[in-house]
Amino acid sequence: YLIGIDVGTSATKTVLFDEKGSVIASASKEYPLYQPRNGWAEQNPEDWKDATLETLKKVTSTSGIKAGDIKGIGLSGQMHGLVMLDEKGEVIRPSIIWCDQRTRAEVEDMNRLIGRERLIEITANPALTGWTAAKILWVKKNEPENYKKCKHILLPKDYIRYVLTGEFATEVSDASGMQLLDVPNRCWSDEVLEKLDIDKSLLAKVYESFEVTGYVLPEVGEITGLTKNTAVVGGAGDNAAAAVGTGIVRDGTAFTTIGTSGVVYAHSSKITIDPKGRVHTCCSAVPGAWHVMGVTQGAGLSLKWFKDNFCQDYVWEAEKQGVDVYDLINKDVAEQEIGSNKLLYLPYLMGERTPHLDPDCRGVFFGLSAIHTKPDMIRSIMEGVSFSLNDCNHILQEMGIHVEHMMACGGGGKSPIWRQMLADMYQCQVKTVKQEEGPALGVAILAGVGTGVFESVEKACDSLITEDKNNTPIHENIEKYEQLYEVYKKLYLDLKDTFK
Ligand code: XUL
Repeated sequence: YLIGIDVGTSATKTVLFDEKGSVIASASKEYPLYQPRNGWAEQNPEDWKDATLETLKKVTSTSGIKAGDIKGIGLSGQMHGLVMLDEKGEVIRPSIIWCDQRTRAEVEDMNRLIGRERLIEITANPALTGWTAAKILWVKKNEPENYKKCKHILLPKDYIRYVLTGEFATEVSDASGMQLLDVPNRCWSDEVLEKLDIDKSLLAKVYESFEVTGYVLPEVGEITGLTKNTAVVGGAGDNAAAAVGTGIVRDGTAFTTIGTSGVVYAHSSKITIDPKGRVHTCCSAVPGAWHVMGVTQGAGLSLKWFKDNFCQDYVWEAEKQGVDVYDLINKDVAEQEIGSNKLLYLPYLMGERTPHLDPDCRGVFFGLSAIHTKPDMIRSIMEGVSFSLNDCNHILQEMGIHVEHMMACGGGGKSPIWRQMLADMYQCQVKTVKQEEGPALGVAILAGVGTGVFESVEKACDSLITEDKNNTPIHENIEKYEQLYEVYKKLYLDLKDTFK
């Protein structure tokens, strides 16, 4: 048996699989996202820890299998978050997470200290507000007392590894998103560390994603029922993990995920960098390979924000009917016309990465009229998020990355209406896989490779993952979306300076 743990932004999910990739038991626990100021985003690493231990205990105690038969655990999680620990291994301050936008000044510092071109050459990406290096510089400048106490810097899932194994370790895919890694050579960059004056001893040892990084501690065994025979492998950042879990491990394959963030991701056996820095290049969980991804900050986040603040009626109705609230929402949205009655939505609630790299922009409903209803607004959110994902898709094409069809995953990928929007905008087939666990399955596969259950990541994907649904572009929708997309793109350009 194998376990995958995904430390997400809305919840941590722990899934126990057998060696055929079937789910034996699964548990998840939600936690809050704190926004102390407009554009800031923090979470409490202790919440991730409690959620992990609780869900691990649940899956081991309900599955009826012997814990000693669990060979390995793989860790996945939200990327870029900064976790700082003191010399006793205690958390110093809340984690500043991936969608936080407070580091505009530090990004400028990085460009000045290293040079934009040189930084792209080494880290494969331009300085980015949401990535870890800028956050480290922010703490150093604004909270020197916390920085002085800091003895270990970890990413969210690597903090969980420390909790489970006592080891300070990371792996290449997630480490790529710290902007301290030499991405072509898959090791820490001494040059970047020196120029930013960050001590290398603060960083964890870098592994490949499938490699064993440690074993479950006895004290964790007491809480969770696991034994010290269970290995914990490197794992992967949530996108690289979702790639393995949906079989995106060869050139020509790609996926779109709609989770809190939205990502269009393509595998690449050669390192490919967008000189304009609009999409990210990171190491993949497949040894010796990379990936390119465009990221929209507020994808599922936009829909969840709207549901949490304005859709109590849907929540009550769903409770009454005993159904998922998003199923009710999807049903109503499917009845609205394309274009949401001339209502357009820009999904920039937390600024935007692809294609604008703009921490200052914010969400917009454009064209509101007294005719509009709640389903119009929800449909325009789904359309706006899809346009933003289409921006990502266009850039990948511009870079010469050819994609045969697109896999869809994440919570939003389960929505047939959202998948149809993507198929109509991308003008290619949008498919799903039967195995719905995405990142958790991906890292369980990596755990299987690291413990000798599978021969390689590619071979495991070939034998475990099968295609399921398929949305084909609908001819008459294509043109309608193309016209709306032009207005959508113009809207940001017109508003760009007004956001500042
Ligand atoms: C990727 C990114 C997000 C997070 C959150 O660069 O920031 O996809 O990993 O899930």
